[in-house]
Formats: sequence, C-alpha cells, structure tokens
Amino acid sequence: MKATEIGLGLLGYGTVGKGIHDLLAANGKEIEQRRGVRLTIRKIAVRELSNHLEVEQSLLSTNPLAVVNDPSCQLVAEVMGGEEPALQCISAAIASKRPTATANKLVVAKHWPTLIELARQNNVGFRYESAVCAGIPILSSIKVGLAGNHIESITGIVNGTTNFILTRMREANLEFEEALSEAKDLGYAEADPSSDVDGWDAAYKLSILASVSTNRWLDPDLIKRQSIRGISRSTIQAASALGCQVKLAARFSNAREATLAKVEPVFAMPSHALFAVDGTENIVQISASPVGRLQFRGSGAGAGTTASGVVSDLIQLAIELKDGRPCIPNPVIGEIQPSRKSEAESSFAVITSDESGSNRTAIERLLRPIQIVNSHTFVGGAVFVTECCSQEIFLERIAAASEDISEFYEVLK
Ligand SMILES: NC(=O)c1ccc[n+]([C@@H]2O[C@H](COP(=O)([O-])OP(=O)(O)OC[C@H]3O[C@@H](n4cnc5c(N)ncnc54)[C@H](OP(=O)(O)O)[C@@H]3O)[C@@H](O)[C@H]2O)c1
Repeated sequence: MKATEIGLGLLGYGTVGKGIHDLLAANGKEIEQRRGVRLTIRKIAVRELSNHLEVEQSLLSTNPLAVVNDPSCQLVAEVMGGEEPALQCISAAIASKRPTATANKLVVAKHWPTLIELARQNNVGFRYESAVCAGIPILSSIKVGLAGNHIESITGIVNGTTNFILTRMREANLEFEEALSEAKDLGYAEADPSSDVDGWDAAYKLSILASVSTNRWLDPDLIKRQSIRGISRSTIQAASALGCQVKLAARFSNAREATLAKVEPVFAMPSHALFAVDGTENIVQISASPVGRLQFRGSGAGAGTTASGVVSDLIQLAIELKDGRPCIPNPVIGEIQPSRKSEAESSFAVITSDESGSNRTAIERLLRPIQIVNSHTFVGGAVFVTECCSQEIFLERIAAASEDISEFYEVLK
C-alpha cells in the first residue's frame, strides 16, 4: 500500500515532543505499512532555540501560532503544557480546520465543552488520549470499546508522582518531604509539585474521564480534593498495621441518585485493585453495565508512553484526513453537578496519637452508633477501623470529635 504523507506541526519539543519524534523515527515505517499514513514533522515550536541545536534549525520556530498556521502542517500536536498559549494554539488549529491532538490535561479538563463545540463547528477531529494516564488507551476504550455501556463508576490511581512518593514513604520509611525530594531528584516531580501533590493533576484527569464517560462536563473545580501533604510516616505505619496501603484515589461514581467526584488519600486493602499498584504506575478500574468490572493498568508518564498515546491519536486523525471523513466529537449534553453529601456506605480508619490503644472505649463513645470492628497500635499511635457505615453519619460524628482524632481515611475493600 502506498502511504499518504501528512505534515505535522509539533508544538513543544520537551519530554513528550522528543518522544513523538523518536517514536516516529523508530516505528514510522511500520505505521506506514499497517495504517497507510506517513506522519512527517514539518515544523516544531519551542521556547528557546538554543536548547535545540541538535534539531534541523529550519524546522524550529519560537512562534507556536505560526507553526499552527504553516501551510505544510495539516495536523497539529500540542505538547507544550500550561494553559496559555496552549489553549490559544489548540483553538487556532481547530478553527483553521486542522485535526488536533493534545496531551494537555489542564487545557482539556478546564475547556472541554468549548473545545468540543469548536471541533464540531469546524467539522474536525480533536483527540486527547494521552491527557489521561499517558499511553494507557483508556479514553478510546470508554468511547469506542464501552460505547454501549452505562459507566457506573471509575476508581483509579492516575498520578504517578504521588504514587511514587507514597510508595517510597512505605518502602524506605520516609517522611513526605524526603520522598518528595527523591521524586524531584529522579525527575518524577516538578520544582513546584503542587499540581501533583495537591491533587489538581488527578482532578483534571478524573474530570476528563467522567466527561468522556457521560458526555457531560465535570468542571474540575467541582471535584473534592485532598492533598497528600498531610500524609506522614505515622499515617503509612497506621495503614501498614492494618495490612493496607495509602493511595491517592481518584473516584467518580455515577449512581442515578447521586454523583460523586473526589480525589483523596485512602487506605486500600489487599483485596482492592489499587493496593498492588506501586511507584509511577497508574490504574483505572471501571464498573460499567452490562460489561462489569474492567481494569486498565500501566505506565502513566514518560516520553515513550505519552508519545504512544499522542501518536495513536495522530494516526487516527491522519487516516480520517486521508479518507476525508473526520470523526467529530459527540455534542456535550450538559454538566455534572457532584453531590456534596454521599448516601454511600464505607468503612473508615481512624487514627489517634495514643500508642497504647487504651482509648478504644472513648473512640467508640465518640463514634456511636458506629461500631469499631478492628484496631491496632503502631509506633506513634493507634488505628481503629469502623464497620461499614453511612458516610454522612461518620462525618457528623468526626466533626464533633475532631480534637481526639488526628486523621481518618476511607478504607477501600
Ligand atoms: N511528561 C510526561 O510524562 C507527560 C505525561 C502525560 C501528559 N503530559 C503532558 O504533555 C505536555 C508536555 O509535557 P512535557 O513533559 O513534554 O513538557 P516539557 O518537557 O516541559 O516540554 C515543553 C516543551 O514545550 C515548549 N514550550 C513551552 N512553552 C512554549 C511556548 N510558549 N512557545 C513555544 N514552545 C513552548 C518547550 O520549549 P523549550 O524546550 O525551548 O523550553 C518544550 O520544548 C504537558 O501538557 C503535560 O501535562 C506529559
């Protein structure tokens, strides 16, 4: 089969941009043979030309909008990051009828309805597979593979940086700041780690997962978020005493009576899918009707894995361009309003700083009518596990008892 050559405008040549270049260099021939399209990088936007002396200089530009509008670029891949000028460039690319792929979770999550509507108006494809869990093909699985299902819930570890930090705190008995510093040294955390550790990155990904699952926009600002900065060595020890692991869980529940969306640290038991996912690995577990429970697991960051997601989007967009049949997104049908209160039932781990555990009676009195079903002591405190109970009643009791209880976490079984 003779391949059709499609010119690509690449916005950004950092970790992911170089990953896309390298992937096309390694697999381009096979992609041509298998899919009938040859993706050729025609222009590359960077911030600083002198950082890229290894690249043929005629390809480079410091003006990303000029790359978008370059006549040789039929497709655009945005991998600069940040909100602006990324949003402006993605919008300009779509408005100029260039099919566009991006890995930018912040832009997609915050501006999803506007960008979808723009793509529809201009009759062009717009794809963002690697904005969620990089190379794990979770969005296309939801959109295509699960198209006939009702997505009931999504539970995942979608941020590799925080999972690495929590894993290192457990493995090496580190405090949060020590594990964060290790993550920075290894390039897993940025100089300003707030987006990762305060749950914003995970909230953007959960917003995209929920929006794609329902075709209703979940505004990331409406997702309840709890940072992992409050996790200490003693939190990890409390979890270990129960045989649990601390994980930053991103959860969306799409029950008919109430919708919940939250990113918060939880205690995962060995029986739960999140328990064994360590380091920078990601997992997404989807419960859907009628298919049941599915798990998607793999590396959620890095040059190759993210390029894998972007290039799969680009190949799809190139084939649609070649065939003259753009696959435009479905219309957004509304917005998700997550409930503030939960009707669900859960079990909770309650941590106190009394190492003797002799305060069990006092804790039982504080939580009544909720029963304690398990307790352990560890160096630095005691941890009590409640029966499965109404989240509402538990939170009311905890609010009244806050001075005696230092931390509490939902236990995922
Ligand atoms: N890294 C990952 O593992 C990963 C995983 C999933 C998704 N993503 C997403 O992929 C995107 C890119 O991430 P990255 O890690 O590749 O970032 P990065 O290494 O910081 O690279 C960013 C690139 O964009 C260029 N750039 C930034 N602002 C620009 C501007 N105003 N004009 C022209 N060029 C500009 C930079 O130019 P200079 O080189 O000259 O500075 C650099 O080449 C982000 O949206 C990120 O969230 C990344």
